[in-house]
Amino acid sequence: MRVLLIGSGGREHALAVGLAADPSVEQLIAAPGNPGIAAVATLRDVQATDPVAVAALAVEVQADLVIIGPEAPLVAGVADAVRAKGIACFGPSAAAAQLEGSKAFAKDVMAAAGVPTGKAFTCTTAAEVSAALTEFGAPYVVKNDGLAAGKGVVVTDSLAAAQQHADECGRVVIEEFLDGPEVSLFVVTDGTAAVPLMPAQDFKRANDGDEGPNTGGMGAYAPLSWAPADQVDRVMAETVAPTLAEMRRRGTPFAGLLYVGLALTKAGPKVIEFNARFGDPETQVVLALLASPLGELLNAAATGTLAGFPPLRWHEGAAVTVVVASHNYPGTPRTGDVIDGGERPGIIHAGTARREDGALVSSGGRVLSVTATGPDLAGARAAAYELVEGVALEGSHHRTDIALAAVEGRIQI
Ligand code: AMP
Ligand code: GLY
Repeated sequence: MRVLLIGSGGREHALAVGLAADPSVEQLIAAPGNPGIAAVATLRDVQATDPVAVAALAVEVQADLVIIGPEAPLVAGVADAVRAKGIACFGPSAAAAQLEGSKAFAKDVMAAAGVPTGKAFTCTTAAEVSAALTEFGAPYVVKNDGLAAGKGVVVTDSLAAAQQHADECGRVVIEEFLDGPEVSLFVVTDGTAAVPLMPAQDFKRANDGDEGPNTGGMGAYAPLSWAPADQVDRVMAETVAPTLAEMRRRGTPFAGLLYVGLALTKAGPKVIEFNARFGDPETQVVLALLASPLGELLNAAATGTLAGFPPLRWHEGAAVTVVVASHNYPGTPRTGDVIDGGERPGIIHAGTARREDGALVSSGGRVLSVTATGPDLAGARAAAYELVEGVALEGSHHRTDIALAAVEGRIQI
């Protein structure tokens, strides 16, 4: 089949590598893509958030399947526009993507479906904000209602900082603090049938020891040897099945990738957030371990035939990815710095560009997602950091403790 992949980040590079390895994918086109994706796909230019432009490109390249990577095109209705042309599309409708597009909408669906999650209030006035912060106490969790590229959430012990974030956002969701290790579970679904992938753990804070501001994610690893064996079944039964049923009941079935962000609390897994697309950088480690054909899996979800898909197969061992971020990320990142050693197997491009003279340069906050597998987590971790050592990018920073607590057996629920 002929596949058109929309997006230009690390998640899309990881998807492209997986798709290129699937024999059923005869041709892979990516738009707009990046220099890493260019090694495995033909690049086309497109404004990814423009439904008309993406649908026209899908028709022009005679795509059998369109896969939409990031959330912004989904929320903008790109999947609807592609399907309106009669082309299969992996990614939810704009209406269903509101599970990610609005934190208040997601909370409403969770309440209707009886999904375990933190108690929360949607607030628009200073009085509502004060009342909610007082009710929950510290640590305070304040979330911008709309899309914010992973940076709309402030978790703080400071009442003043919580109030200030609420002021800046306008409409916010203020939530009970959920204590426990975080897990990202990706579920491929056609709206009814649902197939969970291997759970992974992301590192959201910028600095070692989970210090510093929230980011889009600074690293990830899988599998999670410390997680309870029944965890995935439990989340599928308590959270995924009722959420998909509620979305069908509302007449807006969710088909695509349901990303369930969980805190494993003492009282069981609770939802921190839903996203409507693969997580970045968790996708890099999950797909590194997937042995089943990725194109066929996503095509089954896009064509409503997921129930007949064979059980997923996984490679033995573990995978670790370490994000190399540009100077000042997650503040306004410096771009245009030359990257040396950025074009080796396992180095996923997240924010890179090709300069006119052919040099690879940084073009975003998260620049590279350096990914390696190994026979076990310690081996994968050592291999990933060895790859990082070979990268030179002026002013860059990365965390040195990705997967360390898991390797040392320090994660407890
Ligand atoms: P979100 O965008 O909702 O995933 O939030 C970003 C990050 O903020 C999460 O990955 C958590 O680390 C943290 N966070 C969000 N909500 C909560 C909560 N209710 N309790 C504790 N931490 C949270
Ligand atoms: N890594 C977190 C996210 O993709 O939202």
